[in-house]
Amino acid sequence: MKPPTKTPASESLAGLVGQSVDAIDTPALVVDLDAVDRNITRMAEFARKHGILWRPHAKMHKSVVLAQLQLRSGAVGVCVQKTAEAEIMADGGIRDIYISNEVVAGPKLARVAALALRLTQENGRLAIAVDSVEGITRLGQALNESRVQHPSSATIDVFVEIDVGQGRCGVAPGGAALALAQAIHKHPRLRFAGLQAYHGKAQHLRGAQERRDAIARVVEDALSTRKLMEAHGITVDLVTGAGTGTLVCEAASGVFGEVQAGSFMFMDADYAHNERDAAQPQFEHALFVKTQVISSGEEHAVCDAGHKSHAIDSGLPKVLSADAESHLEYFNGGDEHGVLRPAGAGHRIPAIGRMLWLIPGHCDPTVNLHDFMIGVRGGLRNGTVEQIIRVDARGALT
Ligand SMILES: Cc1ncc(COP(=O)(O)O)c(C=O)c1O
Repeated sequence: MKPPTKTPASESLAGLVGQSVDAIDTPALVVDLDAVDRNITRMAEFARKHGILWRPHAKMHKSVVLAQLQLRSGAVGVCVQKTAEAEIMADGGIRDIYISNEVVAGPKLARVAALALRLTQENGRLAIAVDSVEGITRLGQALNESRVQHPSSATIDVFVEIDVGQGRCGVAPGGAALALAQAIHKHPRLRFAGLQAYHGKAQHLRGAQERRDAIARVVEDALSTRKLMEAHGITVDLVTGAGTGTLVCEAASGVFGEVQAGSFMFMDADYAHNERDAAQPQFEHALFVKTQVISSGEEHAVCDAGHKSHAIDSGLPKVLSADAESHLEYFNGGDEHGVLRPAGAGHRIPAIGRMLWLIPGHCDPTVNLHDFMIGVRGGLRNGTVEQIIRVDARGALT
């Protein structure tokens, strides 16, 4: 029996390189490489201007080649959320990796310890977040056990995560965080590296002033926690956090030393709903689902991209308008279909066969639905396929 093949097959995708965008079959995840370059350049300039490090979140693109592109442009390393993502990035040659998340399972921690050793031996470094004494004990144990197997085993950088308003992981700022830093200090193989203070919900507050107000409180919490630690003789080398929605606030705070924004590189439709902060670089959409109209009637048309092609947790995709008379709205048509209606009077229903471009609502889970992204240069209308980008960490959930 023939082994199952992935769809679309990588070989046929490789044959696309050098061809016009018209040759891309649908539905397909397409990256506008010129827009990616511009977004990265803007981020690098922004970071330089503010004297802040940038460590983009690779959970967004899940691709080694895109991580390497970011590093060549000045990023200090990558963030990941999962041990498996960290392993895949390390396999791809990334040497400075931060797991900005809590890991507590024994088998996973054994992998974390092995990766810390490997990266140290390769002159790199692994960092991780913790938010409990239990987590610290388990991490320390895993490092100790790896030391038995490898006498010269490595240390790992450990950030204490404080909950600065998201209500997800993290201990309360202040005394609880201090107690964790003190517990880390007791472990010879753990190095206290600083504070993680990420406020995910604030990224998507629509008003620029709302986001500024939320991050002002984050900065206060991070600063008071840092001061408390310093008063107890503990140096806080770095405060890290921030996403695309608020990075201007953290960067200007004088408290944060590093921003972790990931989505800035692709800019999904959800982020386009945020009122732009005047200080924010003008990031542009760079991730699209190419789709084709397969049915067209009096009232609506139907395209071949449903929520197996793009994530809908942050809203339905936007349709990129081809011209002033063709504004379309996308409605949920299920797994494999999208229903398209004119956005107002005078707008045309697209004909069967017409190619359209969707801007996904949320880039991270959209990327995770695909094996490959098709990198295009020269624009979506007349461009050429330059590169097939593997989603290396697709499904890397452990
Ligand atoms: C801990 C952490 N840092 C940074 C980010 C990046 O945020 P964004 O992709 O919105 O820039 C995320 C996203 O969820 C996150 O969970």
